[in-house]
Amino acid sequence: MKQLNAEFLLGATNDSQFPKLNLPEVAFCGRSNVGKSSLLNSIVLNKHLAKISSTPGKTKEINFYLVEDKWVFADLPGFGYAAVGKNLRLKWTALNWHYLEKRENLRLTCVLVDSRHDPMEQDLATIERLEFAGRNYLIILTKCDKISPKSVDERKKQLEHLVSQCKYAVEVLPYSSVKLQGRDELLAILKRFLV
Ligand code: GTP
Ligand code: MG
Repeated sequence: MKQLNAEFLLGATNDSQFPKLNLPEVAFCGRSNVGKSSLLNSIVLNKHLAKISSTPGKTKEINFYLVEDKWVFADLPGFGYAAVGKNLRLKWTALNWHYLEKRENLRLTCVLVDSRHDPMEQDLATIERLEFAGRNYLIILTKCDKISPKSVDERKKQLEHLVSQCKYAVEVLPYSSVKLQGRDELLAILKRFLV
């Protein structure tokens, strides 16, 4: 497997700081600790690119990365993380949605859902809002190495059923950042959308 060339561009705490590069972008969103930063690192095969932590709330701004000099990856702060306090939580949510709904260069949003649990209220709200905004999104089931293949399959079917009437849901993709399961499929999807 080939490592992708990737570098940290900047961390944005408001929309005026978003990168001015005119390149296609992909966003990674989902609740805190779901595995966004790990997934990003697994795509580029660099464990040290985005900071990872077992404590939720690690990513505190929208972190932008330049990948292969042709794509921009946006790692979003976790949605709805209570422990950061109400003000900051509302600020992150507003910033995330400003980016997800308005960003012109954004081609695809990856909505990460923990494969071990039923989707949370927050996950459903995110899907609904992206659908309403007419933004393409890919549902990624994270941490699939932690459950049996049968349970992964059941979860995949559950989510597929959930979005069966949705127009902008691209696919439901099982993933493991540890085992690199789903990486080839994800790269193929990115190549399709990030043009
Ligand atoms: P915030 O930045 O806090 O919103 O979290 P995040 O969504 O970026 O999660 P992060 O990538 O930091 O991962 C959270 C924890 O889950 C870490 O302890 C990771 O090692 C673990 N983790 C992430 N992905 C996987 C996976 O595919 N398999 C397993 N077993 N653990 C994972
Ligand atoms: Mg993170």
